[in-house]
Amino acid sequence: MKVLIDCDPGHDDAFAIIVASQFSEIVGVTTVSGNAPLTLTTKNARVVLDLCGSSAPLHSGAARPLVAEPIHAAYIHGESGIDGAILPEPSRLADGTDAAHFIIDTVRATPDLWLVALGPLTNIALALRAAPDIAQRVAGISIMGGGRFGNRTATSEFNIWCDPEAASAVFDSGAKIVMSGLDLTHQLIADPKRIETVRSAHTTLGPLLAGLLEFFGSSYMARHDDFLGAPLHDVCAVLALTHPQLFIWKDAHVVVEIDGTHTRGMTVIDDRHVRDGNTTNVRVLETIDADAAFEIIVDAVHACPSNG
Ligand code: RIB
Ligand code: CA
Repeated sequence: MKVLIDCDPGHDDAFAIIVASQFSEIVGVTTVSGNAPLTLTTKNARVVLDLCGSSAPLHSGAARPLVAEPIHAAYIHGESGIDGAILPEPSRLADGTDAAHFIIDTVRATPDLWLVALGPLTNIALALRAAPDIAQRVAGISIMGGGRFGNRTATSEFNIWCDPEAASAVFDSGAKIVMSGLDLTHQLIADPKRIETVRSAHTTLGPLLAGLLEFFGSSYMARHDDFLGAPLHDVCAVLALTHPQLFIWKDAHVVVEIDGTHTRGMTVIDDRHVRDGNTTNVRVLETIDADAAFEIIVDAVHACPSNG
């Protein structure tokens, strides 16, 4: 399984990269403005690639959405974008600053490549705009985003809400899409018991990653009265490819609202069973075996190289 990960690290992005590094071949990583400004998501991606021992090429991309003003999520991820631990300085710089063309070139050169989109879809949309052929060349796009309810607003999930124009272009592109929406990702909660399994999974990384999860969880519990920890949203988009047996899914027609006063950034999932309904364009993941998924996450942490 070859993947190119587009991300905005981001606590859950970090865990998604760690899982992908152990259970897939990461042929490239691109970064986008989202949880934090592009400079920080790029620095954080450099750090996380070091932590999991990956030398995958890294290219930064869009510093702002296609149309909307850039808005970040320090209220969840902290000012650095990945607060909660003392992280090492990155060992290397990014390899480039044109994520969209890196995505185009890599898709065209790599058969059976999956794109894994873990942040706002700006880079993916720019790549599709410049090279529509990649929609059919890519094996598919596994997206963390959307859902039947929102988090940034009542209807809209952060990744989609940040750049609805980009998301709409991606969902309408004709590419095969697998969607991990909030109704799925909220089933994968890093609760205190699971955080302790992460802490003990690796002598050096364990305590660091547990600290990240504690911070991430504290943000959620400060903001919501019905969470026991943070959802590991982005990990679902990787596991959907590496461990599909964990999921139950349905195919549906999904579009992104870009004009609604109260619904801009909503993924409109057509659950109707009507004969003259829309054709399905998205595989919508509905349930995950969370216990089995977390065991895989812990295995991935354990398998990371020791850094002294
Ligand atoms: O809404 C959750 C998504 O927004 C995740 O990708 C998280 O990392 C943030 O980017
Ligand atoms: Ca993310």
